[in-house]
Amino acid sequence: MKIIDGKIVAAKIREELKIRIDHLKQENHSIPGLAVILVGDDPASQTYVANKEKACLEVGMNSKLIRLPAFTPEEDLISDIEQLNADPTIDGILVQLPLPPHINEQKIIETITPDKDVDGIHPVNAGRLLQGISSFVACTPAGVMELLKFYNIETRGKHVVVVGRSNIVGKPMSVLLAQKKEHANAVVTLCHTAASDLSYYTRQADILVAAIGKPGIITASMVKDGAVVIDVGINRVEDHSKASGFRLKGDVAFEEVSAKSSWITPVPGGVGPMTIAMLLKNTYQSFLNRNNII
Ligand code: GUN
Repeated sequence: MKIIDGKIVAAKIREELKIRIDHLKQENHSIPGLAVILVGDDPASQTYVANKEKACLEVGMNSKLIRLPAFTPEEDLISDIEQLNADPTIDGILVQLPLPPHINEQKIIETITPDKDVDGIHPVNAGRLLQGISSFVACTPAGVMELLKFYNIETRGKHVVVVGRSNIVGKPMSVLLAQKKEHANAVVTLCHTAASDLSYYTRQADILVAAIGKPGIITASMVKDGAVVIDVGINRVEDHSKASGFRLKGDVAFEEVSAKSSWITPVPGGVGPMTIAMLLKNTYQSFLNRNNII
């Protein structure tokens, strides 16, 4: 069993970005800026948002964090996004999901101008991805593609089984892997909660991507010997031995599955760090696009 280390790959991407941004600063050029909006006080979202801001500052980008109370009216959130759409210093806009129930998530996503949608969730970017046109790709699936490429894991003709069909992970993941492109070209099965026997599908996977959101649900009997296992889950499970009272656990039962797999991503330290690295990369790309820098 070999570990796919997302921390190493993410650090490499961040270092490359830092060099480029330092160079912009030396030339007194403007630099990329990312705006992150957090509505409410969900603890996991607070951590994600804080990590995103920290990562931005570490590579030398501008970061604008907007924290709004949970009862913020939808119109106010829309007007904040419209201001960011028009703000020339902002290249990327990310609205942390989930949003409180009184806010229409789809309406908010569609308010973000597609050319600043570094999260790749606006229907224009999702549609462009579906048609194989370059676009901002959702950060988590984009990060998984980078990991497979970095570790030279063959995808061509392989059977990839993606578990989970969310707009932000499962769907774009399956589209990316099925693309007729280098480092893709896989045969993809997308399965989900309606499968009466999930293991029937997962056992056939050469590469298994778990994006379910349930801790430890993928057990050893569900995985083929020698499979590559990508764990997208970041679940908080109670752990009183930790000061925080919880620890992070993936969707995969790591101990038992790692004994069977050829490659596996740990949680934490696998896919998670890549999501943030790809967010920075998308923001930098948006900056280049918006400044006509090739
Ligand atoms: N919540 C959990 N993951 C994500 C993400 O990648 N983007 C946004 N906007 N919200 C999230």
